[in-house]
Amino acid sequence: MAFSSVTQTLDPCQHTSESIPDNPDDHICSETTNPFSPESVANHESSLLDNPNGCLTTGARIERAWAHWKKLGEPKLIVAPMVDNSELPFRLLCRKYGAEAAYTPMLHSRIFSENEKYRSQEFTTCKEDRPLFVQFCANDPDTLLEAARKVEPYCDYVDINLGCPQRIAKRGNYGAFLMEKLPLVKSLVEKLALNLNVPVSCKIRLFPNLQDTLNYAKMLENAGCALLAVHGRTRDEKDGKKIRANWDAIRAVKNALRIPVLANGNIRHMDDVTRCLEETGVDGVLSAETLLENPALFAGFRTVDWVSDGGDGIRDAKLDQADLVVEYLKLCEKYPVPWRMIRAHVHKMLGEWFRVHPHVRADFNAQSILSFEFLYGMVDRLRELGVSRPLYVKDTV
Ligand SMILES: Cc1cc2nc3c(=O)[nH]c(=O)nc-3n(C[C@H](O)[C@H](O)[C@H](O)COP(=O)(O)O)c2cc1C
Repeated sequence: MAFSSVTQTLDPCQHTSESIPDNPDDHICSETTNPFSPESVANHESSLLDNPNGCLTTGARIERAWAHWKKLGEPKLIVAPMVDNSELPFRLLCRKYGAEAAYTPMLHSRIFSENEKYRSQEFTTCKEDRPLFVQFCANDPDTLLEAARKVEPYCDYVDINLGCPQRIAKRGNYGAFLMEKLPLVKSLVEKLALNLNVPVSCKIRLFPNLQDTLNYAKMLENAGCALLAVHGRTRDEKDGKKIRANWDAIRAVKNALRIPVLANGNIRHMDDVTRCLEETGVDGVLSAETLLENPALFAGFRTVDWVSDGGDGIRDAKLDQADLVVEYLKLCEKYPVPWRMIRAHVHKMLGEWFRVHPHVRADFNAQSILSFEFLYGMVDRLRELGVSRPLYVKDTV
Protein backbone atom coordinates (compact mmCIF):
# COMPACT_ATOMS: atom_id res chain seq x y z
CA MET A 1 0.00 0.00 0.00
CA ALA A 2 1.71 3.17 -1.14
CA PHE A 3 1.19 5.80 1.48
CA SER A 4 3.02 9.08 1.35
CA SER A 5 6.49 9.12 2.66
CA VAL A 6 5.93 10.45 6.12
CA THR A 7 2.99 8.32 7.04
CA GLN A 8 4.28 5.13 8.60
CA THR A 9 4.52 2.52 5.88
CA LEU A 10 1.12 1.17 6.60
CA ASP A 11 0.45 -2.40 5.89
CA PRO A 12 -3.32 -2.51 5.32
CA CYS A 13 -3.65 -5.38 7.71
CA GLN A 14 -1.32 -3.97 10.30
CA HIS A 15 -2.85 -3.12 13.63
CA THR A 16 -1.48 -1.55 16.72
CA SER A 17 -0.54 -4.28 19.12
CA GLU A 18 -0.52 -4.63 22.89
CA SER A 19 2.40 -2.30 23.33
CA ILE A 20 1.39 0.98 21.78
CA PRO A 21 4.66 2.81 21.06
CA ASP A 22 5.20 6.31 22.34
CA ASN A 23 4.82 7.95 18.97
CA PRO A 24 2.90 11.25 19.06
CA ASP A 25 0.87 10.05 16.08
CA ASP A 26 -0.49 7.23 18.20
CA HIS A 27 -1.87 9.62 20.78
CA ILE A 28 -5.59 10.29 20.70
CA CYS A 29 -6.36 13.78 19.39
CA SER A 30 -8.35 14.52 22.60
CA GLU A 31 -10.42 12.78 25.28
CA THR A 32 -12.60 10.00 24.01
CA THR A 33 -15.82 8.37 25.14
CA ASN A 34 -15.65 4.71 25.91
CA PRO A 35 -18.48 2.59 24.53
CA PHE A 36 -17.64 -0.06 27.12
CA SER A 37 -18.31 2.13 30.16
CA PRO A 38 -21.15 0.85 32.38
CA GLU A 39 -23.24 3.93 31.46
CA SER A 40 -22.84 3.31 27.75
CA VAL A 41 -23.83 -0.30 28.17
CA ALA A 42 -26.83 0.62 30.32
CA ASN A 43 -27.95 3.30 27.85
CA HIS A 44 -27.56 1.10 24.87
CA GLU A 45 -30.74 0.25 23.06
CA SER A 46 -30.22 -3.36 22.16
CA SER A 47 -30.75 -4.40 18.57
CA LEU A 48 -30.29 -8.06 19.30
CA LEU A 49 -32.37 -10.71 17.66
CA ASP A 50 -34.43 -12.96 19.87
CA ASN A 51 -32.50 -16.18 19.46
CA PRO A 52 -29.15 -17.26 18.18
CA ASN A 53 -29.13 -19.67 15.24
CA GLY A 54 -28.81 -22.78 17.42
CA CYS A 55 -31.73 -24.94 16.43
CA LEU A 56 -32.71 -23.47 13.08
CA THR A 57 -33.02 -25.37 9.81
CA THR A 58 -30.98 -24.12 6.85
CA GLY A 59 -34.12 -22.64 5.28
CA ALA A 60 -34.99 -20.78 8.45
CA ARG A 61 -31.43 -19.44 8.77
CA ILE A 62 -31.54 -18.13 5.21
CA GLU A 63 -34.90 -16.52 5.84
CA ARG A 64 -33.52 -14.97 8.97
CA ALA A 65 -30.44 -13.67 7.12
CA TRP A 66 -32.74 -11.89 4.66
CA ALA A 67 -35.06 -10.58 7.37
CA HIS A 68 -32.07 -9.00 9.10
CA TRP A 69 -30.75 -7.54 5.85
CA LYS A 70 -34.17 -6.05 5.09
CA LYS A 71 -34.49 -4.69 8.61
CA LEU A 72 -31.25 -2.78 8.01
CA GLY A 73 -32.80 -1.23 4.90
CA GLU A 74 -30.86 -3.38 2.39
CA PRO A 75 -27.80 -1.11 2.31
CA LYS A 76 -26.19 -1.07 -1.13
CA LEU A 77 -23.40 1.48 -0.69
CA ILE A 78 -20.93 0.32 1.91
CA VAL A 79 -17.62 1.56 3.33
CA ALA A 80 -15.16 -1.36 3.18
CA PRO A 81 -13.08 -2.37 6.21
CA MET A 82 -9.75 -0.49 6.29
CA VAL A 83 -7.18 -0.77 9.05
CA ASP A 84 -6.48 2.68 10.49
CA ASN A 85 -8.80 4.20 7.89
CA SER A 86 -12.46 3.18 8.34
CA GLU A 87 -12.58 4.61 11.85
CA LEU A 88 -15.60 6.43 13.31
CA PRO A 89 -15.09 10.00 11.98
CA PHE A 90 -14.33 8.69 8.49
CA ARG A 91 -17.36 6.39 8.57
CA LEU A 92 -19.56 9.30 9.64
CA LEU A 93 -18.20 11.47 6.82
CA CYS A 94 -18.91 8.74 4.26
CA ARG A 95 -22.39 8.21 5.72
CA LYS A 96 -23.14 11.92 5.36
CA TYR A 97 -22.23 11.52 1.68
CA GLY A 98 -24.35 8.54 0.83
CA ALA A 99 -22.78 5.47 2.46
CA GLU A 100 -25.60 3.27 3.74
CA ALA A 101 -23.48 1.02 5.98
CA ALA A 102 -19.85 0.69 7.05
CA TYR A 103 -17.29 -1.78 8.34
CA THR A 104 -14.88 -0.97 11.14
CA PRO A 105 -11.18 -1.51 10.51
CA MET A 106 -10.07 -5.07 11.19
CA LEU A 107 -9.61 -5.61 14.91
CA HIS A 108 -7.39 -8.33 16.30
CA SER A 109 -9.69 -10.65 18.26
CA ARG A 110 -7.13 -11.83 20.78
CA ILE A 111 -5.78 -8.39 21.59
CA PHE A 112 -9.32 -7.02 21.63
CA SER A 113 -10.49 -9.58 24.14
CA GLU A 114 -7.45 -9.08 26.40
CA ASN A 115 -6.50 -5.42 26.23
CA GLU A 116 -8.75 -2.65 27.44
CA LYS A 117 -6.57 0.11 26.00
CA TYR A 118 -6.65 -1.47 22.54
CA ARG A 119 -10.43 -1.78 22.77
CA SER A 120 -11.04 1.81 23.73
CA GLN A 121 -8.57 3.22 21.19
CA GLU A 122 -9.39 1.05 18.23
CA PHE A 123 -13.16 0.73 18.52
CA THR A 124 -15.32 3.79 18.96
CA THR A 125 -18.85 4.26 17.74
CA CYS A 126 -21.98 6.38 18.30
CA LYS A 127 -25.68 6.06 17.68
CA GLU A 128 -25.53 7.54 14.14
CA ASP A 129 -22.90 4.93 13.22
CA ARG A 130 -25.34 2.22 12.03
CA PRO A 131 -25.65 -0.15 10.26
CA LEU A 132 -22.19 -1.12 11.46
CA PHE A 133 -20.20 -4.28 10.68
CA VAL A 134 -17.39 -4.92 13.17
CA GLN A 135 -14.57 -6.90 11.61
CA PHE A 136 -12.17 -9.21 13.44
CA CYS A 137 -9.28 -11.36 12.39
CA ALA A 138 -9.08 -14.60 14.30
CA ASN A 139 -7.78 -18.13 14.35
CA ASP A 140 -9.34 -19.38 17.56
CA PRO A 141 -13.14 -19.77 17.86
CA ASP A 142 -13.33 -19.15 21.63
CA THR A 143 -11.17 -16.02 21.47
CA LEU A 144 -13.19 -14.73 18.53
CA LEU A 145 -16.42 -15.28 20.42
CA GLU A 146 -15.08 -13.49 23.48
CA ALA A 147 -14.13 -10.46 21.38
CA ALA A 148 -17.38 -10.55 19.41
CA ARG A 149 -19.50 -10.57 22.56
CA LYS A 150 -17.96 -7.26 23.58
CA VAL A 151 -19.12 -5.51 20.40
CA GLU A 152 -22.40 -7.21 19.61
CA PRO A 153 -24.53 -4.59 21.38
CA TYR A 154 -23.08 -1.90 19.12
CA CYS A 155 -23.22 -3.50 15.70
CA ASP A 156 -25.35 -5.21 13.10
CA TYR A 157 -22.90 -7.92 11.97
CA VAL A 158 -19.73 -9.35 13.42
CA ASP A 159 -17.51 -9.90 10.41
CA ILE A 160 -14.61 -12.31 10.00
CA ASN A 161 -11.67 -11.14 7.89
CA LEU A 162 -10.83 -14.03 5.59
CA GLY A 163 -9.24 -11.85 2.92
CA CYS A 164 -6.15 -10.13 4.29
CA PRO A 165 -3.26 -11.19 2.00
CA GLN A 166 -0.42 -9.37 3.78
CA ARG A 167 2.66 -10.96 5.32
CA ILE A 168 1.52 -10.02 8.80
CA ALA A 169 -1.60 -12.15 8.26
CA LYS A 170 0.57 -15.06 7.15
CA ARG A 171 2.68 -14.72 10.29
CA GLY A 172 -0.40 -14.28 12.47
CA ASN A 173 -2.27 -17.12 10.77
CA TYR A 174 -5.41 -15.20 9.82
CA GLY A 175 -7.08 -13.49 6.89
CA ALA A 176 -6.57 -15.07 3.46
CA PHE A 177 -4.09 -17.58 4.91
CA LEU A 178 -7.01 -19.40 6.47
CA MET A 179 -8.01 -20.39 2.91
CA GLU A 180 -5.61 -23.26 3.50
CA LYS A 181 -7.40 -24.22 6.74
CA LEU A 182 -11.03 -24.50 5.85
CA PRO A 183 -12.05 -26.67 8.85
CA LEU A 184 -10.76 -23.89 11.11
CA VAL A 185 -12.70 -21.28 9.11
CA LYS A 186 -15.83 -23.40 9.45
CA SER A 187 -15.39 -23.62 13.20
CA LEU A 188 -14.94 -19.84 13.51
CA VAL A 189 -18.15 -19.15 11.62
CA GLU A 190 -20.12 -21.85 13.44
CA LYS A 191 -18.97 -20.61 16.81
CA LEU A 192 -20.31 -17.12 16.18
CA ALA A 193 -23.45 -18.26 14.40
CA LEU A 194 -24.40 -20.55 17.28
CA ASN A 195 -23.55 -18.23 20.13
CA LEU A 196 -23.99 -14.62 19.09
CA ASN A 197 -27.18 -12.67 18.94
CA VAL A 198 -26.12 -10.65 15.91
CA PRO A 199 -25.49 -12.39 12.60
CA VAL A 200 -22.02 -13.29 11.39
CA SER A 201 -20.68 -12.08 8.06
CA CYS A 202 -17.46 -12.94 6.22
CA LYS A 203 -15.24 -11.15 3.74
CA ILE A 204 -13.33 -13.39 1.36
CA ARG A 205 -11.02 -13.33 -1.65
CA LEU A 206 -11.24 -15.63 -4.66
CA PHE A 207 -9.44 -18.91 -5.10
CA PRO A 208 -7.64 -19.12 -8.48
CA ASN A 209 -10.16 -21.81 -9.44
CA LEU A 210 -13.82 -20.77 -9.60
CA GLN A 211 -15.19 -24.07 -8.33
CA ASP A 212 -12.98 -23.82 -5.23
CA THR A 213 -14.38 -20.35 -4.59
CA LEU A 214 -17.94 -21.60 -4.95
CA ASN A 215 -17.31 -24.55 -2.62
CA TYR A 216 -15.75 -22.17 -0.10
CA ALA A 217 -18.69 -19.76 -0.25
CA LYS A 218 -21.20 -22.61 0.13
CA MET A 219 -19.27 -23.95 3.10
CA LEU A 220 -19.46 -20.51 4.78
CA GLU A 221 -23.19 -20.26 4.12
CA ASN A 222 -23.78 -23.73 5.54
CA ALA A 223 -21.70 -22.89 8.61
CA GLY A 224 -24.03 -19.99 9.42
CA CYS A 225 -22.60 -16.98 7.57
CA ALA A 226 -25.52 -14.58 7.01
CA LEU A 227 -23.82 -12.10 4.64
CA LEU A 228 -20.82 -12.62 2.38
CA ALA A 229 -18.60 -9.89 0.90
CA VAL A 230 -16.49 -11.10 -2.03
CA HIS A 231 -13.36 -9.18 -2.97
CA GLY A 232 -12.98 -10.20 -6.61
CA ARG A 233 -9.23 -10.79 -6.50
CA THR A 234 -7.14 -13.76 -5.40
CA ARG A 235 -4.75 -13.74 -2.46
CA ASP A 236 -1.82 -13.16 -4.81
CA GLU A 237 -3.51 -10.28 -6.63
CA LYS A 238 -2.53 -7.70 -4.09
CA ASP A 239 -2.31 -4.57 -6.20
CA GLY A 240 -5.88 -3.40 -6.57
CA LYS A 241 -4.83 -0.44 -8.70
CA LYS A 242 -3.22 -2.66 -11.35
CA ILE A 243 -5.38 -5.78 -11.25
CA ARG A 244 -9.08 -5.57 -12.09
CA ALA A 245 -11.43 -7.39 -9.77
CA ASN A 246 -13.22 -10.33 -11.34
CA TRP A 247 -16.93 -9.51 -11.35
CA ASP A 248 -17.78 -12.72 -13.25
CA ALA A 249 -16.55 -14.76 -10.30
CA ILE A 250 -18.55 -12.56 -7.93
CA ARG A 251 -21.67 -13.11 -10.03
CA ALA A 252 -21.09 -16.87 -9.88
CA VAL A 253 -20.86 -16.71 -6.07
CA LYS A 254 -24.04 -14.64 -5.90
CA ASN A 255 -25.85 -17.17 -8.08
CA ALA A 256 -24.62 -20.11 -5.99
CA LEU A 257 -25.63 -18.71 -2.59
CA ARG A 258 -28.95 -17.99 -0.92
CA ILE A 259 -27.75 -15.36 1.60
CA PRO A 260 -27.12 -11.69 0.65
CA VAL A 261 -23.81 -11.19 -1.18
CA LEU A 262 -21.73 -8.01 -1.56
CA ALA A 263 -19.18 -7.20 -4.27
CA ASN A 264 -15.82 -5.54 -3.68
CA GLY A 265 -13.38 -4.20 -6.28
CA ASN A 266 -13.33 -1.74 -9.21
CA ILE A 267 -15.69 0.86 -7.68
CA ARG A 268 -14.43 4.32 -8.62
CA HIS A 269 -17.64 6.28 -9.14
CA MET A 270 -21.40 5.75 -9.15
CA ASP A 271 -21.49 4.48 -12.75
CA ASP A 272 -19.30 1.59 -11.55
CA VAL A 273 -21.75 0.95 -8.72
CA THR A 274 -24.68 0.74 -11.13
CA ARG A 275 -22.77 -1.53 -13.51
CA CYS A 276 -21.53 -3.77 -10.72
CA LEU A 277 -25.01 -4.24 -9.27
CA GLU A 278 -26.38 -5.01 -12.74
CA GLU A 279 -23.58 -7.28 -13.92
CA THR A 280 -23.16 -9.32 -10.75
CA GLY A 281 -26.67 -9.24 -9.29
CA VAL A 282 -25.20 -8.63 -5.81
CA ASP A 283 -27.06 -6.96 -2.99
CA GLY A 284 -24.54 -4.18 -2.37
CA VAL A 285 -21.01 -2.97 -3.08
CA LEU A 286 -18.00 -2.09 -0.96
CA SER A 287 -15.45 0.57 -1.80
CA ALA A 288 -12.11 1.20 -0.08
CA GLU A 289 -9.30 2.99 -1.95
CA THR A 290 -11.54 5.38 -3.88
CA LEU A 291 -13.41 6.45 -0.75
CA LEU A 292 -10.12 7.38 0.91
CA GLU A 293 -9.51 9.96 -1.83
CA ASN A 294 -13.14 10.89 -2.24
CA PRO A 295 -15.38 10.13 0.74
CA ALA A 296 -18.30 11.70 -1.19
CA LEU A 297 -18.19 8.97 -3.86
CA PHE A 298 -21.52 7.41 -2.86
CA ALA A 299 -23.33 10.76 -3.12
CA GLY A 300 -22.38 10.88 -6.82
CA PHE A 301 -19.24 13.03 -6.56
CA ARG A 302 -16.22 12.02 -8.62
CA THR A 303 -12.64 13.23 -8.87
CA VAL A 304 -11.32 14.77 -12.07
CA ASP A 305 -9.76 11.38 -13.01
CA TRP A 306 -13.22 9.98 -13.76
CA VAL A 307 -14.83 12.95 -15.48
CA SER A 308 -14.32 11.47 -18.94
CA ASP A 309 -16.03 8.23 -17.76
CA GLY A 310 -19.16 10.21 -17.02
CA GLY A 311 -20.17 11.27 -20.53
CA ASP A 312 -22.18 14.47 -20.96
CA GLY A 313 -23.67 16.55 -18.19
CA ILE A 314 -20.72 16.52 -15.79
CA ARG A 315 -20.27 19.74 -13.84
CA ASP A 316 -18.25 21.27 -11.03
CA ALA A 317 -19.95 20.14 -7.81
CA LYS A 318 -18.92 23.21 -5.80
CA LEU A 319 -17.46 20.83 -3.24
CA ASP A 320 -13.84 19.74 -3.07
CA GLN A 321 -11.53 17.51 -1.05
CA ALA A 322 -10.39 20.42 1.12
CA ASP A 323 -14.04 20.95 2.16
CA LEU A 324 -14.18 17.24 2.99
CA VAL A 325 -10.96 17.42 5.02
CA VAL A 326 -12.44 20.26 7.09
CA GLU A 327 -15.61 18.26 7.70
CA TYR A 328 -13.51 15.24 8.65
CA LEU A 329 -11.40 17.27 11.11
CA LYS A 330 -14.54 18.59 12.78
CA LEU A 331 -15.75 15.02 13.23
CA CYS A 332 -12.37 14.10 14.72
CA GLU A 333 -12.69 16.94 17.22
CA LYS A 334 -16.03 15.47 18.25
CA TYR A 335 -15.02 11.80 18.06
CA PRO A 336 -11.29 11.62 18.87
CA VAL A 337 -8.98 9.14 17.13
CA PRO A 338 -5.19 8.63 17.03
CA TRP A 339 -3.39 11.33 15.05
CA ARG A 340 -1.91 8.70 12.70
CA MET A 341 -5.39 8.10 11.27
CA ILE A 342 -5.94 11.82 10.73
CA ARG A 343 -2.53 12.12 9.09
CA ALA A 344 -3.29 9.26 6.71
CA HIS A 345 -6.67 10.68 5.70
CA VAL A 346 -5.31 14.18 5.09
CA HIS A 347 -2.61 12.70 2.85
CA LYS A 348 -5.15 10.69 0.89
CA MET A 349 -7.76 13.43 0.46
CA LEU A 350 -5.27 16.20 -0.32
CA GLY A 351 -2.76 14.09 -2.26
CA GLU A 352 -3.42 15.88 -5.55
CA TRP A 353 -3.35 19.27 -3.86
CA PHE A 354 0.05 18.48 -2.36
CA ARG A 355 1.33 17.47 -5.78
CA VAL A 356 0.70 21.05 -6.94
CA HIS A 357 2.38 22.52 -3.83
CA PRO A 358 4.87 19.95 -2.53
CA HIS A 359 6.31 22.42 -0.03
CA VAL A 360 2.98 22.40 1.84
CA ARG A 361 3.21 18.62 2.02
CA ALA A 362 6.81 18.87 3.21
CA ASP A 363 5.70 21.23 5.95
CA PHE A 364 2.92 18.85 6.96
CA ASN A 365 5.34 15.92 7.03
CA ALA A 366 7.73 17.89 9.19
CA GLN A 367 5.14 18.18 11.99
CA SER A 368 5.98 15.39 14.40
CA ILE A 369 3.14 16.58 16.61
CA LEU A 370 -0.05 17.58 14.84
CA SER A 371 -2.78 19.95 16.00
CA PHE A 372 -6.16 20.89 14.59
CA GLU A 373 -5.02 24.50 14.41
CA PHE A 374 -2.13 23.51 12.14
CA LEU A 375 -4.36 21.38 9.94
CA TYR A 376 -7.12 23.98 9.47
CA GLY A 377 -4.37 26.54 8.77
CA MET A 378 -2.83 24.25 6.16
CA VAL A 379 -6.14 23.95 4.29
CA ASP A 380 -6.47 27.78 4.32
CA ARG A 381 -2.94 28.05 3.00
CA LEU A 382 -3.67 25.71 0.09
CA ARG A 383 -6.72 27.78 -0.77
CA GLU A 384 -4.74 31.01 -0.58
CA LEU A 385 -2.20 29.46 -2.94
CA GLY A 386 -5.07 29.15 -5.41
CA VAL A 387 -5.26 25.37 -5.78
CA SER A 388 -8.55 24.45 -7.37
CA ARG A 389 -9.43 20.79 -7.72
CA PRO A 390 -13.22 20.52 -7.69
CA LEU A 391 -15.15 17.33 -7.39
CA TYR A 392 -17.64 16.75 -10.18
CA VAL A 393 -21.22 15.52 -10.35
CA LYS A 394 -23.35 14.27 -13.17
CA ASP A 395 -26.61 16.15 -13.71
CA THR A 396 -28.48 12.89 -13.84
CA VAL A 397 -27.00 11.32 -10.65
C1 LIG B 1 -5.77 1.28 3.81
C2 LIG B 1 -6.48 -0.02 3.62
C3 LIG B 1 -6.74 -0.84 4.71
C4 LIG B 1 -7.41 -2.05 4.54
N1 LIG B 1 -7.73 -2.79 5.65
C5 LIG B 1 -8.56 -3.86 5.51
C6 LIG B 1 -9.10 -4.50 6.65
O1 LIG B 1 -8.88 -4.09 7.79
N2 LIG B 1 -9.89 -5.58 6.46
C7 LIG B 1 -10.22 -6.04 5.20
O2 LIG B 1 -10.96 -7.02 5.08
N3 LIG B 1 -9.73 -5.44 4.11
C8 LIG B 1 -8.94 -4.34 4.24
N4 LIG B 1 -8.53 -3.67 3.13
C9 LIG B 1 -9.00 -4.13 1.81
C10 LIG B 1 -10.29 -3.39 1.38
O3 LIG B 1 -11.35 -3.61 2.30
C11 LIG B 1 -10.74 -3.85 0.01
O4 LIG B 1 -11.04 -5.22 0.05
C12 LIG B 1 -9.70 -3.63 -1.08
O5 LIG B 1 -9.05 -2.39 -0.93
C13 LIG B 1 -10.34 -3.68 -2.46
O6 LIG B 1 -11.33 -2.70 -2.58
P1 LIG B 1 -11.10 -1.37 -3.46
O7 LIG B 1 -10.78 -1.87 -4.84
O8 LIG B 1 -12.38 -0.61 -3.39
O9 LIG B 1 -9.95 -0.64 -2.86
C14 LIG B 1 -7.84 -2.46 3.26
C15 LIG B 1 -7.57 -1.64 2.16
C16 LIG B 1 -6.91 -0.44 2.32
C17 LIG B 1 -6.69 0.44 1.12
